[in-house]
Amino acid sequence: MRDKLEALGNQTLIDIEAAMDAAAIEQIRLRVFGKKGALSEVLKGLGQVSALERPQIGAFANTWKERLEEGLASRGQICEERDLDKRLAAEAVDVTAPARRLHPGSLHILTQTTRRIAAILGRLGFESASGPEIETEYFNFEAVNIPADHPARQMHDTFFIKPGHVLRTHTSSVQMRVLREKKPPIRIFAAGAVYRCEADATHSPLFHQIEGLFVDKGVRMSDLKGVLGELLSELFGTVKFRMRPSYFPFVEPGAEVDIECFKCRGVGHCQLCRSSGWIEVLGCGMVHPFLLTSAGVTDVTGFALGLGVERMAMLLHEVNDIRHMFQGDMRFLQLFRFRGY
Ligand code: DAH
Repeated sequence: MRDKLEALGNQTLIDIEAAMDAAAIEQIRLRVFGKKGALSEVLKGLGQVSALERPQIGAFANTWKERLEEGLASRGQICEERDLDKRLAAEAVDVTAPARRLHPGSLHILTQTTRRIAAILGRLGFESASGPEIETEYFNFEAVNIPADHPARQMHDTFFIKPGHVLRTHTSSVQMRVLREKKPPIRIFAAGAVYRCEADATHSPLFHQIEGLFVDKGVRMSDLKGVLGELLSELFGTVKFRMRPSYFPFVEPGAEVDIECFKCRGVGHCQLCRSSGWIEVLGCGMVHPFLLTSAGVTDVTGFALGLGVERMAMLLHEVNDIRHMFQGDMRFLQLFRFRGY
């Protein structure tokens, strides 16, 4: 029995010294001291030992036990330190390594343009208003003086959704919603997506407009002209603009607004203005009495204006194809990465 204990003890000491990490130490501990471990196996033989010898053998076994436990503890500590060193080496951060390049997102050029225009109108006292993109035929057409048989309906290549509903073809659809909801003075702008069934380099089936509406006592065409002057000079710098008589069913009189070509200043061969010297930028006019009367608003006048966000963005940044706006090409989008808004 002594021999067995000694053999086990010596072998275990050798194993302990050879252990390289805490897991190996733990394995040895289980193998020797575990419930069915090697030591218990040897000590099972204690029953056969004579009563005389038993205390000595017991003491001998205890001495070995203590030696092995000490060995496990001291080698265990070394192993733990080794483990820690290894982990630290593996997890080390090289603070001198070059940083990974970040690719921060940025606002889309259309969002930037919308916010820029909204900020200008906001400074002029206009508040944000909105309406649904799936709109009733009533608000999109009838309410803004385009009855079913009106030729102006053909100017809008409408997407029909279900009976009585269309994808709104312009943000003018918000006008009557607001006129019905609010009491003058009304000074709102409505920005959002609009839809028309057309597609080429200057037309997209989905595009964006911003509508302005100002209704109050004594609003005159000169107020409209003043707002246009502010809006256009903030966007394009100090430019000349002209109001050219035009027809929109919801305004009377109606006008289209041209700015003097900021590229050629109205002279010479120029692609941007097709050498005309003028660039059309928006539609506007005095709110048609039909709208005010049908909304039950009396004793007031007003003006409205509507502009295309894509068109503005394209002019401001000299983009020549509207499809760039929607293709998600990073090379295009990154051109506008560092701008504000
Ligand atoms: N709704 C017109 C369009 O989509 C734009 C427009 C023109 C809006 C004149 C207006 C306006 O408010 O007065 O072509």
